[in-house]
Amino acid sequence: MCGIVGYIGEGNAKEIVLRGLHRLEYRGYDSAGVGLYDGKYHVFKEKGRIDALEKTIALNKASLGIGHTRWATHGRVTKENAHPHASYDERFLVVHNGVIDNYKTLAERYLGGKARKSETDSEVFASLVASFAKDHPVDVAIREVLKLLEGSYAVLVVDKENPGTLYAAKHKSPLLIGKRNGGVVIGSDMMALVGAADNYLALEDETFVRITSDNFSLYDLEGDILPYRLQKIDIDAFESDKGEFPHYMLKEIHEQPAVLRRIITKYFDDSEVRIDQALLQKIKMCDRIHILAAGTSMHAGLVVKDMLETFALVPTEVHIASEFAHHPPLIAGNPFFILISQSGETADLRACLTDIKQEGHPSLTVTNVRTSTLAREADDYLEIHAGPEIAVASTKAYTAQIAVLTILAYALSEQSFDLKRELAEVAQAMEQFLDKQEKIRPLVKKYLTKPHAFYIGRGLDYAVCLEAALKLKEISYIHTEGFASGELKHGTIALIEENTPVIALISNAKTAAYTRSGINEVKSRGANTLVIACESFQEAEDAIVLDDVNPTFAPMLTVIPTQLIAYYAALERGNDIDKPRNLAKSVTVE
Ligand code: M6R
Repeated sequence: MCGIVGYIGEGNAKEIVLRGLHRLEYRGYDSAGVGLYDGKYHVFKEKGRIDALEKTIALNKASLGIGHTRWATHGRVTKENAHPHASYDERFLVVHNGVIDNYKTLAERYLGGKARKSETDSEVFASLVASFAKDHPVDVAIREVLKLLEGSYAVLVVDKENPGTLYAAKHKSPLLIGKRNGGVVIGSDMMALVGAADNYLALEDETFVRITSDNFSLYDLEGDILPYRLQKIDIDAFESDKGEFPHYMLKEIHEQPAVLRRIITKYFDDSEVRIDQALLQKIKMCDRIHILAAGTSMHAGLVVKDMLETFALVPTEVHIASEFAHHPPLIAGNPFFILISQSGETADLRACLTDIKQEGHPSLTVTNVRTSTLAREADDYLEIHAGPEIAVASTKAYTAQIAVLTILAYALSEQSFDLKRELAEVAQAMEQFLDKQEKIRPLVKKYLTKPHAFYIGRGLDYAVCLEAALKLKEISYIHTEGFASGELKHGTIALIEENTPVIALISNAKTAAYTRSGINEVKSRGANTLVIACESFQEAEDAIVLDDVNPTFAPMLTVIPTQLIAYYAALERGNDIDKPRNLAKSVTVE
């Protein structure tokens, strides 16, 4: 979802801003733009990809720059609606990430009939700054406007009358600032800062920043100076090259065994789990765990519910964050909240966290980004150590979330077994299967011939079916649903016709026979069935056979062929695999 980058200093602002925008591409966008200063101001905007924008930029070097990737919320995808936006008098340029809910009211009250060039809330913000700057110094004007806003913003402001200064502010949308001798860079996430800064700071809500080429100062909205401490940027953690792979998604699928092994190293000392005792004690005090998450992370939650109930013996509920935020269930007793989020920036989750904190309930964020908003704002966080996940379709974060929460569940339990070895076996089985990945493409060609498909399974296999279906639909655009196989005959089986693809997952002795009978039911109605089974449950016609692992941990393995099925189905259809249509990597609006 929208990303912003800004730079001021001795480096080349054009290169730094464009590199930052490329690194933010994974968040999803439909247009992009930059504002650059090389003695005078230039604005370039384009619909579509940053590559197209780059071709239009007719200057080599700039000392100040702001850039933006836009994911349309207010107004259509047009060049006019792309950022930067200029104020009505052309004095100020603005890039903005977030949503200003009351922009229409503010425009009516303060801007009267002043003409607008775009349909955006962001242009209104630029013009409000211009209007207030008629009677106030620029810093004061911006802060006064910020105080009027309802909604969310990460915003950069350039005053053409003062090219030595860049202004920024943040509320509810992420913004990080980084520094190196001779330059300051600011952006929506760490990826935009790497290479241009050595140290960084994640800004808090309602912070206003005044930036010059060699320093910056933070203020609250009243203008009082705020203290801050910079942290060192760990560059290795932000390695984001595709390497030998044609797509990030395929690279990230292949990284999963290594990620699982990294998690084992990070969370175990010999066979002792390394998780803060104080956190474990807090969870042990609760009588119910509530997991909050969205999309793939919510599907990881459905698997982990099983671990928490089996190992830690704590009743666990899983909630869709966007539902919980505005329609919460009755929360009784001593709850503990676990928020699962790859990005740590999902707005639906943040809305939940604000309420949870207000009620005084304890919270833990499980995330891939330790600098993220949700990691900072929950009482505790656990990192999943998956490394940057660039493809919009989440893969390695799912298995890493399950692995880390499995370790947490084990640490909370009274049980003693060699979890480290069990997880290492899963990593080994993942690798075995990935070595044979070339089997998948012909299967995809043979089976996925229709605009619809179904995944079926029971128990944990069903939980994986939901994730498998999401993956297939989001990148191949084949309409896919995941079903509990026993539920088919209660309605859905009516959809099965000649050659409908039905993919079944079988990894558990308790449910294998029941899933087989579901397969027979759909087969006898014409379905084209493809079975993914662990070795012990294999039957002659099964197309994909995986090594046996402990069935409790099987979801981390059985999901892998489903990720590859989605990948090859999208490849066959010529889709933009890493950036599927209409989707953003980090969903920062509710
Ligand atoms: O960053 P998060 O884990 O909070 O994101 C949640 C979902 O938006 C995300 O998992 C989404 O469903 C992915 N596109 C799925 O591949």
